[in-house]
Amino acid sequence: MSRIAVIPGDGTGPEVIREGIKVLTAAADKFSIPLTFTAFDWGGARYLKTGETLPDNAVHTLRGFDAIYLGAIGHPDVKPGILEQGILLRLRFELDQYINLRPVKLYPNVETPLANKKPEDIDFVIVRENVEGLYIGSGGFLKKGTPDEVAIQEMVCTRKGVERCVRFAFDLARRRNGRKKLTMSGKTNVLTFVQDLWYRTFMEVAKEYPDVTPDYAHIDATTMWMVKNPEWFDVIVTENMFGDIITDLGAMIQGGMGVAAGGNLNPEGVSMFEPIGGSAPKYTGQNIINPVAAILAGAMMLEQLGHQKAADAIEKSVVAVISRMKSMAAGRMGFSTSQIGDMVAAGL
Ligand code: IPM
Ligand code: MN
Repeated sequence: MSRIAVIPGDGTGPEVIREGIKVLTAAADKFSIPLTFTAFDWGGARYLKTGETLPDNAVHTLRGFDAIYLGAIGHPDVKPGILEQGILLRLRFELDQYINLRPVKLYPNVETPLANKKPEDIDFVIVRENVEGLYIGSGGFLKKGTPDEVAIQEMVCTRKGVERCVRFAFDLARRRNGRKKLTMSGKTNVLTFVQDLWYRTFMEVAKEYPDVTPDYAHIDATTMWMVKNPEWFDVIVTENMFGDIITDLGAMIQGGMGVAAGGNLNPEGVSMFEPIGGSAPKYTGQNIINPVAAILAGAMMLEQLGHQKAADAIEKSVVAVISRMKSMAAGRMGFSTSQIGDMVAAGL
């Protein structure tokens, strides 16, 4: 029995998660996978009512589940940072979801802003370290609000943290397809402490994977190659902040937030799956948002739970539905949000 905690969240989150659950339920029926869903109302609306981002026992409660399925967190009436830190980042950190896995895959019939690039050119995975670096919240102010103000934000990387992330990426590169190439994206020429640790760790772990080709690119050059030669990449591994930036670039070249899915993984614990896009207040409640990213995040969740066949079937059905859609953009899909969910479920 796999118990799924569901956090639909804010804005269009509940609309896309509804379609995701529809598809997951259909897949569970077809492949005889026992799945249960338990919903939690955490998000901006609850915060505005109660003043609380997450209840004290939230993390403890979530540890009792096999996976978490998250819609979107973010509310126009809540000051930026509160919900991100109080919910999303807190869950990533406290559940030690040290991998942020973001496939960048251009499906047939999806428009990419890159001229002359086809599905076979855009198919790689970004492994973003998810709990260290600039995200740990270490730093402070001196003389705040004065002309002499100093602000410090520290980038902290640990040998253990880097090594487990790099090792995950090598494992993934080994099993993903025949290419077996892993690119570390870094900035060894400037960040001579943290990136030195990253590079040494990367090259040391590489020795345990003689069948995987280790490759290195500076992060700025990586953005250039992602646009010019995305076919160069198979698996990319990178530090948290760099990964945040290049995964948005990745989402755009694969057709936008409507199709980009991600997983916050703790391979030894509870992982959380989400469409990368935000709560999209402007499209909320109109049944016009694209649920494909949420459905694909659901497929990633099934894969992580060991149901590869069901995950593959969902992806296949999504590909068939995408071939009938007019666009990946909200309101221009040629179908409503719930119609897309119905079609993917029926296609199983
Ligand atoms: C993401 C988001 C988050 C991040 C924000 C909302 C804190 O941009 O999941 O990429 O920076 O990690
Ligand atoms: Mn981001």
